[in-house]
Amino acid sequence: MAENNPTRPPVLSEHPADRPAGAGTPPDGGRGAPPLTVPDILAAKGHRRLVMVTATDEPSARWADRGGVDLLLVGDSLAMAALGRPTTLSVTMDEMVHHCRAAAAGVRRALLVADMPFGSFQVSVPEAVRNACRLVAEGEARAVKLEGPRLAEIEAIAAAGIPVVGHLGLTPQSVHRLGGYRVQGRDEEAALLILKQAKAVERAGAFLLVLEALPSAVGKAVTESLRIPTIGIGAGPHCDGQVLVLADLVGLSEPPLPRFVRRYAQLGEALRDAVQRFAEDVRRGDYPREAESYASPPTLAEALSQSPGDA
Ligand code: KIV
Repeated sequence: MAENNPTRPPVLSEHPADRPAGAGTPPDGGRGAPPLTVPDILAAKGHRRLVMVTATDEPSARWADRGGVDLLLVGDSLAMAALGRPTTLSVTMDEMVHHCRAAAAGVRRALLVADMPFGSFQVSVPEAVRNACRLVAEGEARAVKLEGPRLAEIEAIAAAGIPVVGHLGLTPQSVHRLGGYRVQGRDEEAALLILKQAKAVERAGAFLLVLEALPSAVGKAVTESLRIPTIGIGAGPHCDGQVLVLADLVGLSEPPLPRFVRRYAQLGEALRDAVQRFAEDVRRGDYPREAESYASPPTLAEALSQSPGDA
């Protein structure tokens, strides 16, 4: 039973049924390996491939962390994956802080990275630093990610002591300028520009670089030319690690999916089937059964049946 499980924190009540519904699986306390640090991530380059997935809340972070990822990203993709919005552009700093703090509650080992949302770092360098500080102080992130070769912002945030992740290639916050979610760096000029930007982002102080939607040859060239690790999403197999949006990986998002997505579960269908079976059980009177209901002394039922009920 849960109360005797040493990996669970103590329950507040003597009786398991007295806990609120949904409180049965809090993040466990004393699990496994120590938390991964920025030096651990840097040291992985050339030795082992890094794994990152996105998380939007405590349960997704907890289960992904238990799955052994190195990095968890509270990406602004949560606008689309969790909030039903058409692009990432409308997600606010307050929403990012809210989701990040929830994810932080589920993380034990992975390094938690928060995305800086659209508008949070484009206006001025001091505002970028202030918003990065909010994601760390209020959101409990341990690093922040920002899209594009924003060298002054990366430098200033890193100088404030906050580890920074860069993001080049397809940068979804620039969807309107790019004319859609298109593969980048397809011709020599564009590929060389990305290579140049990647080196500049590294020099500015980023400790990790996400490369999105690039030909494999560009992913390879950038990875080989940097000392910091690269994490690919649709940037081929030569990056130092890979990231996927969790909703895509576990089957909670709907097609059409980008070419690089591989599904490892069909949780959307599993969820629908579970709800359907619950609905069937309720409708035919098979839920709840005796064992799922609270008992009382027989005298109580008798007293209730004799009471006029209008006290
Ligand atoms: O927001 C996000 O999920 C991302 C990943 C695509 C890397 O930036």
